[in-house]
Amino acid sequence: MAASDNVTGYDPVWKAMHWLTVAVVLALFLLGGTMSRGTPFLVMWHESLGIFVLLLTLARLLWRATHVPPPLPGGLRPWEAFAAVAVHKLFYVFLVLQPLIGWGLYSLSSNTTLFFGLFPIPKLPLGELAGQAARGVLAGAHGAGAASLAILFVLHAGAALKHHFVLRDNVLLRMAPDALAGALRKLRGE
Ligand code: HEM
Ligand code: HEM
Repeated sequence: MAASDNVTGYDPVWKAMHWLTVAVVLALFLLGGTMSRGTPFLVMWHESLGIFVLLLTLARLLWRATHVPPPLPGGLRPWEAFAAVAVHKLFYVFLVLQPLIGWGLYSLSSNTTLFFGLFPIPKLPLGELAGQAARGVLAGAHGAGAASLAILFVLHAGAALKHHFVLRDNVLLRMAPDALAGALRKLRGE
């Protein structure tokens, strides 16, 4: 039996919410980069999935506040433990801020989008902010938020892959769906 067979991982709800967030955020990048005013179908998906990420992140934070995450694996240097926790916290900050900024942009526009085609996404009451300057600031902030998320993604996914394939510890297995654990072990030759 490999030393990594006994993994105290995140619970299944935690894992499901993590990987659903990953899939939706990647889709948001794809849609954000390709949509334009002329493609209302793509805009509908971008704005609906963006609001969905906000709701999903609030659910995750609620889960986190009421459940205990598995402790960080032993053997991390203090700066590594600090960096891991800092990146996780920053992710949560941006997963709340970025959709709110996007929602602000939507609220300042004259378009109405149906949430997954069902009902109109309400407009935030930003009345006194209305104007091209405010739109420009929010658009800049939305671009900067996307860039920050992309940087966090590279640091975080890079660290997870380094732990799995170079340090050969359980960090990735703690968050991996049970069904994939065997395949992930095989990939590193166990
Ligand atoms: C985590 C959530 C989100 C991510 C990662 C994201 C990402 C992006 C990206 C990468 C772009 C292209 C940026 C650019 O071209 O400078 C974009 C544009 C845009 N997003 Fe989002 N977005 C999110 C949430 C939302 C939400 C919730 C809304 C509205 C309800 C929204 C509305 C928009 C709009 C209107 C644009 C076009 C901006 C412009 O005209 O300059 N986004 N988004
Ligand atoms: C948009 C992409 C992603 C976001 C927003 C994200 C976000 C997060 C957050 C917030 C946590 C902390 C969970 C908590 O303790 O509450 C976490 C943990 C984790 N993520 Fe991601 N993640 C993303 C992509 C990935 C990818 C691509 C991988 C693997 C290659 C990955 C592997 C992990 C692992 C292994 C953990 C657990 C770390 C530990 O036990 O300390 N994540 N992620």
